[in-house]
Amino acid sequence: MSLSILPSARPLPAAQVYLVGAGPGDAELLTVRAVRVLAVADVVIYDRLVGPDVLDLVRADAERLFVGKMRGRHALSQDRINALLVDRARAGRRVVRLKGGDPFVFGRGGEEALAVAHAGLPLEIVPGITAASGCGAFAGIPLSHRDVAHSVVFVTAQSRAGMPPLDWQALARPFTTVVVFMGLAVLAEICERLLAHGAPPDRPTAVVENGSLPEQRVIEGTLASIAGRVREAAPAGPCLIVIGDAVGLRRSLSPNDELRPRASDLETILTS
Ligand SMILES: C[S@@+](CC[C@H](N)C(=O)[O-])C[C@H]1O[C@@H](n2cnc3c(N)ncnc32)[C@H](O)[C@@H]1O
Repeated sequence: MSLSILPSARPLPAAQVYLVGAGPGDAELLTVRAVRVLAVADVVIYDRLVGPDVLDLVRADAERLFVGKMRGRHALSQDRINALLVDRARAGRRVVRLKGGDPFVFGRGGEEALAVAHAGLPLEIVPGITAASGCGAFAGIPLSHRDVAHSVVFVTAQSRAGMPPLDWQALARPFTTVVVFMGLAVLAEICERLLAHGAPPDRPTAVVENGSLPEQRVIEGTLASIAGRVREAAPAGPCLIVIGDAVGLRRSLSPNDELRPRASDLETILTS
């Protein structure tokens, strides 16, 4: 990718920490700023949701440190990740902390930014496309729509002590799209709680697995049926739950998932 078209791009200071959003998976969904930063980083600290195509954009001789959780192996604790960021930056290196989606959306980016700020080090936050937008776009679900969704709520199903105390009454309201991060393991409980707070059993609900990637799957159902369908489909990749009448619009927008182009297919499509 040529970046010479950006004469006004801000300079990239050395010895600074960059908290960079890697987007939902497809490397072409990175921001131009993220690509520039990856190309000059001395150290890149990344986790599980960052795909290989994104890592291909890292400078070849940069130090790459994986700090995510893998099957059978423990993740580095948040304190140790924070310390790693600070130590490498204090050693005069340009450090990129690369995180899936947007760093400030359920990604502990806030904790890492505070650790860097408390250490008195310069920091830049490079936003990324959150999985909510990426999955919405690639699954054909407009998160808002004047007729069916006047508000969009992002919630996490995981906090320090398991499921956080969510406002189920508000989430069950009509004209609302609810996007649940890290909710697959408690999908049945989420549906039960919404039903108990007055949401109708036929409210459209989708689970998007591996959003934006070639392996993307969309499992569709209703509040009453989705848990059973997901059990059958047994997704293994990262999954986002989207609940609300806007989910019902995907039928008209993406009748065939296999025909939806990925961002990286667009060049072929546009030049053929
Ligand atoms: C720790 S959160 C990080 C969210 C990220 N910061 C963002 O803005 O998208 C991880 C959760 O994001 C969701 N997620 C991230 N990437 C996804 C993808 N490509 N497809 C579906 N869900 C995804 C899943 O719910 C996953 O468990």
